[in-house]
Amino acid sequence: MSKDYFQHKANNYEQDANRVNNVENIANSILQNLSFCKTMHIMDFGSGTGLLLEKIAPFVDKVTAIDISNSMNKMLADKRKKLRCNLEILEMDLSKTKLDEKFDGIISSMTMHHIKDIQTMFKDFYNMLNDNGVIAIADLDAEDGSFHTEDSGVFHFGFDRKIFLNFAKEAGFKNLKIESASIAKKPYRDYPIFLLTGNK
Ligand SMILES: C[S@@+](CC[C@H](N)C(=O)[O-])C[C@H]1O[C@@H](n2cnc3c(N)ncnc32)[C@H](O)[C@@H]1O
Repeated sequence: MSKDYFQHKANNYEQDANRVNNVENIANSILQNLSFCKTMHIMDFGSGTGLLLEKIAPFVDKVTAIDISNSMNKMLADKRKKLRCNLEILEMDLSKTKLDEKFDGIISSMTMHHIKDIQTMFKDFYNMLNDNGVIAIADLDAEDGSFHTEDSGVFHFGFDRKIFLNFAKEAGFKNLKIESASIAKKPYRDYPIFLLTGNK
């Protein structure tokens, strides 16, 4: 069984105002860049406690939330009644198990740095999208490794934007764009966050 790196964090995850604010900025940037509608079924990869998907929920029909962490999924499940869309929670490691389902969009915030093989993940995203399906992936710009002060299964100290965009391009995505979406604030430093958008 995979280790739940977020087990001791899940209960207090949303107590950090800077974290909540960062994901809110990301959600606003996604809503500015992409159009959603009430017939859409989207996936949130690495959904955690649902900070991102709850902001997008009012604009879509259904969100499939994918997360490996049982403790984070429980926090999200507690929000189900308050969400303004249908919710499916899948507890799985998407880097190891393929999902035979198609979506109209894939959103993700602060999760890709936990994924070892970024190229393969983008190819999987491409295969899981309907024609013209959209992606909106936010994560850290390249940093010095100081963002995480404890081991939470990190494979990348952020990303170089050009390299990250190229992974998506190689996977087949079109109309790709990367822009600044937020600043993740820690007591000791600020960390810029980018948002990549595009479509199949
Ligand atoms: C930093 S949290 C971000 C949570 C949420 N997206 C947010 O912005 O608040 C990263 C999440 O990705 C999940 N995760 C990491 N690797 C994963 C994988 N291979 N498959 C599914 N979920 C994964 C973790 O369990 C965790 O909940």
